[in-house]
Amino acid sequence: MKVLFIGMGYVGTTTGLVLAEHGHTVTGVDIDQKKIDSLNQGNVYFYEPGLQKILSSHLNKNVFFTTDLKKAVEQNDLIFITVGTPSLANGSADLSYVKDAAKMIGKYINSEKTVVLKSTVPIGTTEKVQNWIEEAAQNSSPVKTVMNPEFLREGSALEDALHPDRIVIGTHDRKAANQLRMLYQNWSCPVIETTPKAAEMIKYASNSFLAAKISFINEMAKLCDKLQVNIQDVAHGMGLDPRIGPHFLKAGLGYGGSCFPKDVKELIYTADSWESPLEILNKVDEINRNQGGYFIEKIKKKLGFLKGKKAALFGLAFKPHTDDTRESVSYLIMERLLEEHAEINVHDPVVKLSSDWTDQGVKQFKDPYKAAESADVILICTDWPEYEELDWAKICQLVGSPNIFDGRNVMNASKIKKLGFYYEGIGYF
Ligand code: UDX
Repeated sequence: MKVLFIGMGYVGTTTGLVLAEHGHTVTGVDIDQKKIDSLNQGNVYFYEPGLQKILSSHLNKNVFFTTDLKKAVEQNDLIFITVGTPSLANGSADLSYVKDAAKMIGKYINSEKTVVLKSTVPIGTTEKVQNWIEEAAQNSSPVKTVMNPEFLREGSALEDALHPDRIVIGTHDRKAANQLRMLYQNWSCPVIETTPKAAEMIKYASNSFLAAKISFINEMAKLCDKLQVNIQDVAHGMGLDPRIGPHFLKAGLGYGGSCFPKDVKELIYTADSWESPLEILNKVDEINRNQGGYFIEKIKKKLGFLKGKKAALFGLAFKPHTDDTRESVSYLIMERLLEEHAEINVHDPVVKLSSDWTDQGVKQFKDPYKAAESADVILICTDWPEYEELDWAKICQLVGSPNIFDGRNVMNASKIKKLGFYYEGIGYF
């Protein structure tokens, strides 16, 4: 089938490339010329394992990139909208990119089209998209709309797109539902057909539930800190109950990224505007926002004060295997360390620190051992697997004081303590 993607972010690029891998012909459009140039040169401009290879094997065969939206709309009858929906100051999602895309489709429409929303959008948006397209359309070509949410995790987006747990098709139109079933016919997971609103809600409720699991285990971890109970054992014991499950029970510095914080806030906003407040999600959000501060307080309790102390901060990405730093708690921790007049050395395997930070005296090192040199405390903020593999005996010799605060509970506590470190995780020691 021929498919057009409007918005070449990680969702559009990943989904498009995976559809190409399954033999479909994919066109990707973006208003950002730089992104299109990069993709046309065979370079995935963001870090996502595995995508580069797929792009190289399909580029200019059955994958094409352009900024010419008019031509792309005219030549494709199945159009995905995969533009961003960032948070506005009041927590609601900014739909301006979605609206722009819908208006442009309407402007250039020349035949019957199926428009599929993959961007995470507030409940009721699919209906709005239908209206925006129809308002902008100068002829009467019919439009069918579908909500088909994505469940891709950054860092494993390719794996998730190739092997999803479920495909959700939200539409009132039988023909459009069948079109999507055809598109995804090679996938073997359950396919759920429902209304557009329910499909929109499935995405928000799923992400909010996962965020709630994380905040729940983080609350437990704080109590475990007081009671000297190991949260890893608790999570393991809980997770073996199939009604609970083992996933998303990893205590630490909380969730970041481009989805959870934004989606939780948007659902809170929607619930408030329908006068049906989601008390539980307000707490989930509040607990998450306080995790960085809790971590700093733990460090201060041990070190006494941070003024003039050297902190080696390991990990800037909001999670491993990505260069995404959106809503990464590492930045909040750096802010707090600067407020306390600490010196900061940072390391991350892929993220480069911007000049906003280096201008304030934060130093970035390519070599984690150099970052650790003469440090008074090491803070692990992202669970990059390579951190566990470092030569910690060597680091113990390099640091000024052997203190490790592990915000992701990645280290083997007993091993690291045997080397001579003082070690504290979150609900783990
Ligand atoms: C998430 C959803 O998983 C995905 O389905 C959706 O489409 C987009 O949002 P992503 O943001 O890429 O994906 O990351 P994810 O792996 O879900 O982790 C989110 C955050 O939660 C990270 O900051 C991670 O460190 C944190 N996390 C995750 C925990 O703190 N504990 C856990 O047990 C799991």
